[in-house]
Amino acid sequence: MSFRIQPTAPACPNRCQLFGPGSRPAIFEKMAGSAADVINLDLEDSVAPDDKAEARRNVVEAVGDIDWGRKTLSVRINGLDTEWWYRDVIDLIERAGPRLDRIMVPKVGNAADLYAVDALITAAERAVGRETPIALEVIIESAAGIANVSEIAAASPRLQAMSLGAADYAASMGMQTTGIGGTQENYYMLHEGARHLSDPWHWAQTAIVAACRSNGVLPVDGPYGDFSDDEGFRAQARRSATLGMVGKWAIHPKQVALSNEVFTPSEDAVAEAREILAAMEKAKSEGSGATVYKGRLVDIASIKQAEVIVRQSEMIAR
Ligand code: COA
Ligand code: MG
Repeated sequence: MSFRIQPTAPACPNRCQLFGPGSRPAIFEKMAGSAADVINLDLEDSVAPDDKAEARRNVVEAVGDIDWGRKTLSVRINGLDTEWWYRDVIDLIERAGPRLDRIMVPKVGNAADLYAVDALITAAERAVGRETPIALEVIIESAAGIANVSEIAAASPRLQAMSLGAADYAASMGMQTTGIGGTQENYYMLHEGARHLSDPWHWAQTAIVAACRSNGVLPVDGPYGDFSDDEGFRAQARRSATLGMVGKWAIHPKQVALSNEVFTPSEDAVAEAREILAAMEKAKSEGSGATVYKGRLVDIASIKQAEVIVRQSEMIAR
């Protein structure tokens, strides 16, 4: 048991992050009108090299011009291995205005990557007199990123969220798949002649959750590419939620409702969590630290488990 208390992650709903290319301003209003908690306008891999400058202008204008309501507004900048990222940062801080909540840094490989972005943002914020510091979010999507995930999660006080980017991650790891997340037919155990599919994303997801939870950062599952496969999306999202992730990306508007459904604790789950808390209150008043609920043990650890669900539900309701 560490004497260091685990920091809490930001109390903002992050069930779904809806992405859209910065080069397609016609969909910005639709994104703003969606039910996603977070909007990610993209300057990176959904924008062709020739469109980078125009996409940046579109996004800088849209931050102030469009009514984003109470959503968290984030822009994904280009990677640190490109010639575009520094101009993305400068224009977003100097020209987009205070409505921008977060900058998302893709393909982060180590803590120094975030140090560099943080230093540039800090100088630009001082120059324009920005009052609320902009937050950061990162994508873990390379072998280096997952190998250094703990130092990345601790790299900047601005860091709010960390996502797994399945496609680039798979490429960087040399995985034999072109799927973006989800079931991989060749990843199975054989038992008495029957194939039992396993989950090749499990290790990376769990590593991200552990790094995030020990540093007060929100762990998020990234894209599910096959947007005609609702059941596949649900299955992937349910696994992520079970492991402790708080949300998932949508790369098509139809995935927003699916994500909100999975990452909003169900009424049944909340009711059961409240019953466990009540059972433990009663046990405590009787001088006991453990009791029986529906035929199973509940104890002081169960209070913390139940509180995760109740707190999440109350935060979303607010
Ligand atoms: N956000 C909001 N609305 C969107 C949208 C998005 N990301 N993508 C499409 N729409 C709108 C369309 O404009 C269309 O609206 P309409 O009914 O008013 O005409 C409706 O949703 C249905 O769109 P559809 O025809 O099914 O999709 P499309 O062919 O226009 O676009 C994609 C499909 C995948 C190219 C597009 O959704 C997209 O660019 N997604 C994001 C990609 C991205 O940002 N990737 C980076 C992160 S991995
Ligand atoms: Mg990527």
